[in-house]
Amino acid sequence: MLQRRKLGNQGLEVSAINLGTMMMPDNDESVHTIHGALDLGVTMLDTADLYGEEFMLGRFGGNEKLVGRALKDRRHQAIVATKFGVTHAQGPKGDPAYIKKSVDASLYNLGLDYIDLYYQHRPDPNTPIEETIGTMADLVKQGKIRYIGLSEAPADLIRRAHAVHPLTAVQTEYSLWSREVEDEVLPVLNELGIGLVPYSPLGRGFLTGQIKTYEDLPEDDYRRYYPRFQGENFTKNIEIVSLIEQMAMQKGCTPAQLSLAWLLAQGEQITPIPGTKRLDRVQENLGALQVTLTADDLAEIERISPKGVAAGSRFGAF
Ligand SMILES: NC(=O)c1ccc[n+]([C@@H]2O[C@H](COP(=O)([O-])OP(=O)(O)OC[C@H]3O[C@@H](n4cnc5c(N)ncnc54)[C@H](OP(=O)(O)O)[C@@H]3O)[C@@H](O)[C@H]2O)c1
Repeated sequence: MLQRRKLGNQGLEVSAINLGTMMMPDNDESVHTIHGALDLGVTMLDTADLYGEEFMLGRFGGNEKLVGRALKDRRHQAIVATKFGVTHAQGPKGDPAYIKKSVDASLYNLGLDYIDLYYQHRPDPNTPIEETIGTMADLVKQGKIRYIGLSEAPADLIRRAHAVHPLTAVQTEYSLWSREVEDEVLPVLNELGIGLVPYSPLGRGFLTGQIKTYEDLPEDDYRRYYPRFQGENFTKNIEIVSLIEQMAMQKGCTPAQLSLAWLLAQGEQITPIPGTKRLDRVQENLGALQVTLTADDLAEIERISPKGVAAGSRFGAF
């Protein structure tokens, strides 16, 4: 059985490495990849109501429908995590009426009668977090969701939310080139017994060493709008990746595996969700579980990629 980890203190257990489905196109290869991942022992599939090829047209639910299709007859193998709260035109929303409408839409699109882990995708500045979490707690009572999470929430909001109903997980960007979470959020999660789900754990693919030039990104690739992939920032950041590649070679693993093994070494309740369309890469990424990092290795990684080393903001233009 694939190694498992506890996520939070509410009883949820997931595979140590999971699968992000955000960038999967709605096709048979994606279904094949999800099936293959589940068969390899991956349990948690991470989606959101807004993921999908038609988001820019204001249409939600595309990626959830893909996940739902893949889970037909395989519900028992999966822990399904989805999110609400980022709207196309109105900014983040977390008011009770919006949540009630969103959860029913996600359940419909996924074809499920409950969601395992339901996250608020971004905090809503216009709705007190107590009201948002209170509504999510009602969904737990109704059996529509099992566990509650927040995404990209600051430490103070996490505390307030957890006081209303225990949180199971917080999802935020965390990787060798995005370590901001270590300052305030991670200590609070450890104190309160909340799991951390690092998103973009491979730096949106950059840390795998497969992207060598800006031109390697297809013309319609969203990463072209991310400062870290542009101009001088790209040149500086690729130097870090080449050091990660060298170290991975010495360890006999790939840069993706080294990056994921480093994340897993940052805490017992950390379960990354690398995204890939390809089953061979799911397999490669799970290989991170066989990589042992010694104290010397961790010190070397710290030297190569200390906090704040990446050039450019981690946020894109949209
Ligand atoms: N909460 C949030 O706000 C938020 C934001 C962003 C993402 N997420 C979640 O986090 C998940 C992962 O994040 P992400 O997709 O942004 O970034 P990521 O996991 O850091 O990187 C994904 C990219 O890396 C490539 N890749 C994956 N494994 C590889 C390997 N072994 N070798 C070479 N390339 C590899 C993938 O390409 P291929 O597909 O071609 O393999 C893809 O382009 C998403 O699916 C989503 O569920 C959440």
